[in-house]
Parts: sequence; C-alpha cells; structure tokens
Amino acid sequence: MARIIAGVGTSHTPAIGAAVDLGKTGEPYWLPVFKGYEPARRWMAQAKPDVVIMVYNDHVNAFDFKVVPTFGLGCAEEFPIADEGWGARPVPVVKGYPELAAHLVQSLVLDEFDMTIVNEMQVDHGLTVPMTLLFGTPPAWPVRVIPLAVNVIQYPAPTGHRCYMLGKAIGRAIDSWDEDLKVVIFGTGGMSHQIQGPRAGLVNSKFDKAFLDGLSRNPAKLAQIAPLEYLRDAGAEAIELVMWLIMRGALSERVKEVYRFYHVPASSTAVGNIILESTAGARRRARPKSARRAK
Ligand code: DHB
Ligand code: FE
Repeated sequence: MARIIAGVGTSHTPAIGAAVDLGKTGEPYWLPVFKGYEPARRWMAQAKPDVVIMVYNDHVNAFDFKVVPTFGLGCAEEFPIADEGWGARPVPVVKGYPELAAHLVQSLVLDEFDMTIVNEMQVDHGLTVPMTLLFGTPPAWPVRVIPLAVNVIQYPAPTGHRCYMLGKAIGRAIDSWDEDLKVVIFGTGGMSHQIQGPRAGLVNSKFDKAFLDGLSRNPAKLAQIAPLEYLRDAGAEAIELVMWLIMRGALSERVKEVYRFYHVPASSTAVGNIILESTAGARRRARPKSARRAK
C-alpha cells in the first residue's frame, strides 16, 4: 500500500534558485539560508521517498491568464523546466507518474474535488526551488514528482479550509493505491511576503511562527484563516501559504515535527521550512457520504 510518510513545508523564493545556479550559496547573505536547509536535506536523503506530490503554484509561466485552473493536477510523463525570462534553470527534467496521477484525479473527483487534468505543463521556480532545497543538485531527480498547481495568482484563490479538505482527500487517494510506495507531500510558497506596491518587503514573523505552530499542533484552526487575513496580515503573496494546508491535510491527525527552520530575509520573503512525519495508524479514512453513494 502507498503511504504518505511525511509533509514538507518550504518557501520557494526564486532568488534562492538563482543563488544555487550562480554559485553564491557561500556568500554571507545566503549562507544562513542554505545552512538552515542542511538538516532537511539530510532527512530527505534518509527518507528516500519514491514519489513526491508537489503542491505549488505556477507564476504565469505554464498558464497565462487565458486559462487559470484552481487545482491543476500534472498527469504527464515529464515536465520540462520553464524559461522565466533568463533561461530555464539548469536542473534535471521532472519525471512524473501518470498512472498514480490518474488514480489521484479519479479518487479526488469521486471525492467531489473538481481537478483540472493537465497533460502538458512546464514547471517554474514554484516547483524547482523546493526540489533544489530538499534534494540538492543531482544529475537526475531521485523521485518521481506529481505536480499539483494551485491558483494563488489571480483572485479568487481557494480558501485555506478548502485546501485542507483537499489534502485529506489526497491522503485517502494515496491510501487506496496498492503499490508499496513511500510518498512525501510538499506544501510550498510563502511565508509572509509582498513583492509589489507600497507594502513591498512586508514580513510578519509573528504570523509566520504562529502558522508553523498551528501546522504542527492545530491545523483545523489554521484552516479558518480567511484569504483576506493572509493578505492583510502577512502580505499579498502570503496567500501562497494555503498550499501548506493541502500538505498538512494529507498527513495523519497527529504528526511528529522533526524539523523547523525560519529565517528573514531572502529576497523579499520570510523563509520557512518544516518537516512533519505522519504517525502510524488511523490511515484508512472514509469518503464523504455523497461520494460513497456515487461508487
Ligand atoms: C519573490 C517571492 C515569490 O514567492 C515569488 O514567486 C517571486 C518573488 C521574492 O521574494 O522576490
Ligand atoms: Fe511565489
């Protein structure tokens, strides 16, 4: 049986990817960031997942404003790296898992989440920076990746609560896949930041630390934060944090926090990283009644 063994929350600041690609990780500005991710990278090297579900957002690279899916599930064999204006990042192509992705779509739609099936998609810093931070710079990524692109770019983004419920449905979907697979789910973006307008550079460390605490201990309460609260309290781009709630929803009710790191600043963002391991038991979860009837 496939199992979600853990969730990783991490920022995806594009300048972090540029620092790696341009050999700047040892510079005084960047050193604390990369030192802070070392334990997470060691954890990942030991965990050795077979599959990553990468909950991330596209930044108008794969999708322009002609079509903006709220939840787009990547079902392709592979996902090329997007050119975001200064050449594609020199990272390996991302290999997907079409069979498992198709199962996820099937299970999620029966669970009443209207997923968009995405059969062709380039992936941008929202996906590649978390990969680099947790897997380093290997010649090929050591895992297959199922991207789940969430719209947090154009109003209205899905609520944190909807995201948390989607995470639970993802947990159920993985539980019902018979192959023995270790799955790690990522929630990416954030933490507090605003990259434009008069409040550009806004960081709210108190908000971020409370968010990390809530993820660990009381995610249901965290899921009640309204979209406008993220914008008001933690900056316009902090809405990316709803994706961390998808990750959290996919884990067991209780989790073991095995690592946490928080640092300000990196570019204009507060950088956060958390690793939560699912605890054993209570895995097989029932579908909502209406979905059961539909089977
Ligand atoms: C920055 C952060 C982001 O999340 C992003 O997508 C683009 C830029 C920044 O801090 O510069
Ligand atoms: Fe972003």
